Amino acid sequence: MNISHAWTSVWRMALMALVLILGLGLGQQALAQADPDREIATAVPSVDADAWRQIRSGETGPNFRSSRFDSNYNLINASGENWRQLRNRWVSPFGLIAIGGMLAMIVIFYLIFGRKRLDEPKTGRKLPRWPLMMRSLHWTVATLFILLALSGLNLFYGKLVFKPLFGDSAWSGMISASKLVHNYLGPLFGILLVFLLLRLFKENLPKKHDLVWFKKGGGMIGKGHVDAGFANGGEKVWYWLLATVGIAVIASGLVLDFPNFGQSRDTMQWANIIHALGALGLTAVALGHIYIGTIGTEGSLEGMTTGYVDETWAKEHHNLWYEKVKDQTVTKEQLAADHGNTRGGDQAAPRTS
Ligand code: HEM
Repeated sequence: MNISHAWTSVWRMALMALVLILGLGLGQQALAQADPDREIATAVPSVDADAWRQIRSGETGPNFRSSRFDSNYNLINASGENWRQLRNRWVSPFGLIAIGGMLAMIVIFYLIFGRKRLDEPKTGRKLPRWPLMMRSLHWTVATLFILLALSGLNLFYGKLVFKPLFGDSAWSGMISASKLVHNYLGPLFGILLVFLLLRLFKENLPKKHDLVWFKKGGGMIGKGHVDAGFANGGEKVWYWLLATVGIAVIASGLVLDFPNFGQSRDTMQWANIIHALGALGLTAVALGHIYIGTIGTEGSLEGMTTGYVDETWAKEHHNLWYEKVKDQTVTKEQLAADHGNTRGGDQAAPRTS
């Protein structure tokens, strides 16, 4: 299939999926609004005379408890209060420690070891690694992830930082924008991430040599290079985190995004905790991925921007993959000539393995 046609179809599919999701969401919302019984069924249970008597006598029940400060009595939704405590006492500090810790580790690592440079000089001969379709998918998923991370961090911590800084009116604009961005881009990110994961599944199946890769710290412990196929041990960890934690974040996000499917308040509270924990953890790991893919390793970003990597990079970082594909090497001149002939298209669209 012609690449530009293939690309157009991917966008069409993604657009259709988004329209479908929005349609479903709005349809359900209209349904919920038109059906008061359904709304009542998911609302907080009513407090009857017996419950009020219980409360007055100072007893606590499964769904409420009272707190006393001098002569003030406050009714508290017990499960909601547990959720609040879990969120504020555990999830919120976890996020700060994970993201702050990762940033600190990256800076310390860079100051001690610097950039991982190639041992041998580049040969100038190039190997096709990431076809146009994969690069576009990667950068779209990456951009959506970053937008979701920024809007999500603002939903979680923004009130503490920006409200006192900019005042109520600016903050209200910021928080509504974050909520809109987060709610609408989330499902699109979910669909595209699933495409990316399916396409990379084969290359990320664990192999015996990955164990050696970890034992040797990806080549930092001991001498020589460690064996790696198309994906090395570290990349496989990133892949499987996205395939497990990432999917849990997407699933719990959908539970929160479409609250009109009859899920209870408790389900939504748990979805919120799982979503926040997973997303904060992934944001921290993503910082590591971004560091390694840019300033951390010489020659990696070239693959994800041009589609081609230098032969030396392939030999040093992915030797087993290099052995399989080394006959596909092209020179810079050939590449430039091919590019001239197929402007706007994909020069080479090999399978990644
Ligand atoms: C600006 C941010 C990012 C940069 C600079 C970046 C850079 C890169 C680079 C250079 C590679 C290729 C590595 C290689 O050829 O071996 C790569 C692979 C990959 N990236 Fe990113 N990336 C970014 C953000 C993301 C995000 C946010 C995600 C997911 C949410 C992501 C998911 C992946 C995956 C799944 C792979 C393939 C690894 C494998 O082979 O399994 N990237 N990235």
